[in-house]
Amino acid sequence: MKRIAMLTGGGDAPGLNAVIRGIVTRLSKETNEQYKCIGFIDGWAGLRDKRIEDLTPHSVDQILHEGGTILGTSRTNLYKKPEDVQKALTNFKQLGIDALVAIGGDDTLEIAYYLYRDYGIPAIGVPKTIDNDVLGTDFTFGFWSAVEKATAAIDDLRTTTMSHHRIMVVECMGRHAGWITAYTGVASGAEFIAVPEHPVRIEAIAEACRRARERGKLHAIVVVAEGASIGGVDAKPRIVKKEGGGWEISEKVERDSFGNIVLKPGEIAEAVAKELEKLTGIETRGLALGHLQRGGSPSAYDRILGSRYGICAAEAVAAGKYGYLVTLRGDRVEAVPMKGMLRENQTEKKRYKLLPDDFMPMAEIFYS
Ligand code: F6P
Repeated sequence: MKRIAMLTGGGDAPGLNAVIRGIVTRLSKETNEQYKCIGFIDGWAGLRDKRIEDLTPHSVDQILHEGGTILGTSRTNLYKKPEDVQKALTNFKQLGIDALVAIGGDDTLEIAYYLYRDYGIPAIGVPKTIDNDVLGTDFTFGFWSAVEKATAAIDDLRTTTMSHHRIMVVECMGRHAGWITAYTGVASGAEFIAVPEHPVRIEAIAEACRRARERGKLHAIVVVAEGASIGGVDAKPRIVKKEGGGWEISEKVERDSFGNIVLKPGEIAEAVAKELEKLTGIETRGLALGHLQRGGSPSAYDRILGSRYGICAAEAVAAGKYGYLVTLRGDRVEAVPMKGMLRENQTEKKRYKLLPDDFMPMAEIFYS
């Protein structure tokens, strides 16, 4: 009997339960070996503190449609303290675990990779985040659910925005990459879309709203990413011009223990709304969709992608493919080596999967 552990780390995302269900169900059908599954509670903190829960095909049978994660999650950076790594290694051994599946974004995955690389922990990674910014996979589950929720919210906002002939500035999640913002913006026919990948000035947004008026549209929806850099507004600069060309993350932003930008929800929406009203003379409101984008049931797409990821992770366990990451490439779900997808150490600059270069020019056709 082999003992397989799994954990969910970082910000939750709809579809996590689909992955857990996929892993446990697929392993229960393996004929060459018998598997017992357990889950660590609250991500890496559960491994460090030895908090576990048994997972059986029965206990995961009715969780597919549920948002969040039945295992709980936390943003625990085990590699910040050498004693935490030692605790995790001791617990891993004492519990007699044969393989560990870490389901999370780049922060969670990088810990799994380091434990595998530095201590030979048989780890497999499954990429998750509503932000869709993990390198190596076309889509992370959670992303499409977030886009569906944000689009539905904007459909509702549009009716009140139209009645008042206002501008509504809607802030979507995405600190480093504009996936949710750009997809939601296109899906909701926004009058302007601002993403971290394309710094803009507030005057350009005001101009787009004026053009909409000239076309006879008496309201405007402006979708901004929480990490968007918008010159001329009173919000901390997120992205700044690099000497010698290009852009980089500003030194002025606050960062968490993994190096992610920490932002105040609503800061950029409010700042943009204030300036837009001044520049256009049109009444403007700002709203951050915030954690609503991460809440609630997964979309059908994310239930299916999460299930496929879970099954692929279970098959990687059965095949002893450790140090691998489950990915979606085109139509195929396959496990590929984690090496090269993540930072080799936490002092290196983080790398993200950004919007492809041709996305925003396509989006702009609708409002330029
Ligand atoms: O990483 C996913 C994410 O939802 C980001 O888009 C957002 O900036 C962040 O998490 C919010 O984190 P928290 O839930 O810790 O406030």
